[in-house]
Amino acid sequence: MSKRVRLCREDDIPDFCAQGFDPERHGFDTIFVVRQDRDYFAYADVCPHYGDTSLPWKKDEYLDAAGDNIVCAAHGALFNIRSGLCTSGPCKGESLRPIPVICEADGYLWITLED
Ligand code: FES
Repeated sequence: MSKRVRLCREDDIPDFCAQGFDPERHGFDTIFVVRQDRDYFAYADVCPHYGDTSLPWKKDEYLDAAGDNIVCAAHGALFNIRSGLCTSGPCKGESLRPIPVICEADGYLWITLED
């Protein structure tokens, strides 16, 4: 069964930035959203390299210094922002788990979570 969750207003995420969210109230971020222009890409905050490792070294630091890739701080894996595919690092060829995200006409971002 799936459920829709409202995350934030679309402009709460600055362009070419990322933000973590805790939509199921675990006490830590379990997903993150990257904004590029007016496109949004959401993924589970779990690196495919090792266990259930969270990607950022601190809150919302999901991108590399140039803002061109998603980066895992643990061992430096780089992921394509639009596809979630790992392009460099120890899990090259594996992918982040995408989360369906949509910006509704009311200006809010919504995700769909599976149970
Ligand atoms: S846990 Fe992410 S690169 Fe190793």
